[in-house]
Amino acid sequence: MSYHWFKIFEKEERAEDYLQPNTFINFEFKGEKICVTRTSKGFYAFGDKCPHNGASLSKGFCTKKNEIVCPLHRYSFDLETGRATSGGAFAINLYPIEIKENGVYVGIKAKWWES
Ligand code: FES
Repeated sequence: MSYHWFKIFEKEERAEDYLQPNTFINFEFKGEKICVTRTSKGFYAFGDKCPHNGASLSKGFCTKKNEIVCPLHRYSFDLETGRATSGGAFAINLYPIEIKENGVYVGIKAKWWES
């Protein structure tokens, strides 16, 4: 699986300063709306669209159980697996994050014709 990697911060420290715990920042890369958050367990990136009915997950909140809760019907999703922890058999799209010497990156899977 190959990825397009997008730099979202110049340094990890900069990301930590900017992204206070359980806050969100939104990006759009290659037409995909991505939300990045930081919890006590690290950085997470996920699609900013609830799989239940399309609400913006970045308007929700994170729990101490490392979940994102949708603002509309309050379904919750595990930030490690993407799977719903309440509400139904849904899952959010997760994007890998890599922290390197020269920045913090989010990966988007390359389409089959791009690899
Ligand atoms: S739209 Fe997110 S739980 Fe319904």
